[in-house]
Amino acid sequence: MENFEFFNPTRIVFGRGTENKIGEILKKDGVKKVLFVYGKESIKKIGLYERVLKALKDNDIEFIEHSGVKPNPVLSHTKQGIEKAKAEKVNAILAVGGGSVIDEGKTIAVGAKSEKDVWRFFKRQDEIKSALPVYTILTLAATGSEMNENAVITNEETQEKLSISSKYIFPKVSILNPELTFSVSAQYQAYAAVDAIAHTVEYYFSGSYCPMIQNRFIEGLIKTVMDTTESILKEPDNYNARAEFMWAATLALNGLAKLGIRGGSFPNHMIAHALGALYDLPHGACLSIIIPAWMKWYKDKNPAQFKRFAKEIFNKETADDGISELKAWFKKIGAPVSLKAAGVKDFEISKIVDNAYNIAHVWQIGYTKETLTEIIKNAND
Ligand code: NZQ
Ligand code: ZN
Repeated sequence: MENFEFFNPTRIVFGRGTENKIGEILKKDGVKKVLFVYGKESIKKIGLYERVLKALKDNDIEFIEHSGVKPNPVLSHTKQGIEKAKAEKVNAILAVGGGSVIDEGKTIAVGAKSEKDVWRFFKRQDEIKSALPVYTILTLAATGSEMNENAVITNEETQEKLSISSKYIFPKVSILNPELTFSVSAQYQAYAAVDAIAHTVEYYFSGSYCPMIQNRFIEGLIKTVMDTTESILKEPDNYNARAEFMWAATLALNGLAKLGIRGGSFPNHMIAHALGALYDLPHGACLSIIIPAWMKWYKDKNPAQFKRFAKEIFNKETADDGISELKAWFKKIGAPVSLKAAGVKDFEISKIVDNAYNIAHVWQIGYTKETLTEIIKNAND
């Protein structure tokens, strides 16, 4: 097992009705005024908006709204949020939604405490030195943003989708009520399942050594994600399935899954972000296109792990069988497995390659343009 340090300060409040505690939680922490960040209409449709307002008012917490965060959140809207947070002198961010809302909230938290152009932090040209405290109520389990130090934003002018990572943006408290996810559509549930699986397999495959405890932890998460997704697709209001899925997705990217693994990186996300930036596809859809393509290219570089994956997850004998089974499962749940299936018909491979290569440079992952071309060609099968 490799040496590691583990740090995760996010307090999780999990279960039915927990969103009603948000006012008390903020008050106890001495928060007086929040920027209330949310998306388009989903929180209003499920009655959550009203409940949040009541919890804030009952506890004398002032709030300023910042709504309209879009999936694949963009820099221009984030900058508007930063201006509001500064002008209104809020002392915390309350993000209510999925990964996009939380990521925009985290970025506003950073921007509100800095005089620099916030994009500089995404280009890794400056180091994040502080942020407002972030509180979240999660409504879509997928990204793990509710319990991690990352945020992903798209600069729509330059078509770059990049991330920040800082201990200052771990949410202070995240409220996870599985009932709030009952309304997540079958389509987004499929994307969420792909994303949670992706978060566990990145290091699992790309690392050169994976300890037994990590193998078993990751395989347990993958099987849980697959089984609960099948139940959710049949029965969207199944509390236990939604609850186990929600917690599995959080555990997949809260820092635990990569511990003790030697080497490894996030190559599938690097290429998926290029597709997200260029075609504005949902993140999970970008991953279901790229993962089988990347696996086809990578499998011979880590044959034992691919064989293990096939056996443990699908009870199959060969690496190729494991990859085909995973691809078939993505297809079965409704996630696209090629650019064509995602509706991207006219694309230039070189454009995707250049975009991903830029991310590889920022993230310092040593993929060449030739390698990227080979992988992206596989995504067209
Ligand atoms: O805008 P509203 O109306 O809220 O609708 C949203 C949105 O259209 C809807 N939704 C959310 N909760 C719902 C709901 N619909 C019905 N019922 C509910 N309870 O779902 C749609 C998608 O939401 P979004 O937040 O975009 O999805 P997700 O949670 O998958 O987040 C994706 C973003 O997170 C980034 C992705 O790149 C993408 O930008 N990621 C963030 C990570 C992180 N911070 O650690 C890691 C991930 O790898 C990922 O990159
Ligand atoms: Zn992801």
